[in-house]
Amino acid sequence: MTNKLRYFIGNWKMFGDFGSFRIIHRINQFSYKSRKRFKKKIIICVPNTLIHFFSKKLKSRFISLGVQNCHHHQSYGPFTGSVNASMLKRAGAEFIILGHSDNRSEGETNQLIKKKIKSALNEKLNIIFCIGETFKEKKSGKTFFTLRKQIRNSIEKKFKINKIIFAYEPVWSIGTNKVPKIDELKKIIKFIKSEIKKIFKKDSYPKILYGGSVNDSNIRLFSSIPDIDGFLIGGASQSSKKFIDIVKNYYK
Ligand code: PGA
Repeated sequence: MTNKLRYFIGNWKMFGDFGSFRIIHRINQFSYKSRKRFKKKIIICVPNTLIHFFSKKLKSRFISLGVQNCHHHQSYGPFTGSVNASMLKRAGAEFIILGHSDNRSEGETNQLIKKKIKSALNEKLNIIFCIGETFKEKKSGKTFFTLRKQIRNSIEKKFKINKIIFAYEPVWSIGTNKVPKIDELKKIIKFIKSEIKKIFKKDSYPKILYGGSVNDSNIRLFSSIPDIDGFLIGGASQSSKKFIDIVKNYYK
């Protein structure tokens, strides 16, 4: 295992309240040195109701703040119930998850996701762009086809690659306790990297996360894949203890 610093990104989904900042106390258990090293690598993506509150709590506390989606429209507009990237940025968000399968399954297309990425990049937010195949696509041998399509239809050459983190999240693995076989995952991560390099310069270094049922017991499995730059963690990130144990166990 290398000592390379990984991203540990919590996706709280529609969970969390004003008491959820316990995570900060847990992080404070790390030594000052490790907290400093992890700056911008431990990110929690909270529901919109908590952004402002957390952005005040998190100031200079080594954890970065993210959100989970936005409307594609750049400026204000008559979109009931929506917020745009600029509003999220001003509330304190630094990162934003886009293209999550929870939203794709509600009808979000690659084209719509592309518009959202554009608007979030205009606001200088860092993007966590999710891609992944469904179980049906996997079974019919369409994994690579799906991933290629998701990347090519949402990512443009003119986008700033250093502002985008790709998250491979097989849909069949999210919240199911099932994770891909390590050899399979290695091949997929390699494939995603090569697809991204086809769009951007050959010497670009795309960052790729794995997400889907990551927890404190299986995290060590992934340490044998040097190409993975970190993890997007859903269910297990809703408990601050479990989330921190994932980080600790990874580096054990
Ligand atoms: P999970 O969710 O860790 O609960 O599988 C991951 C995600 O939805 O980002």
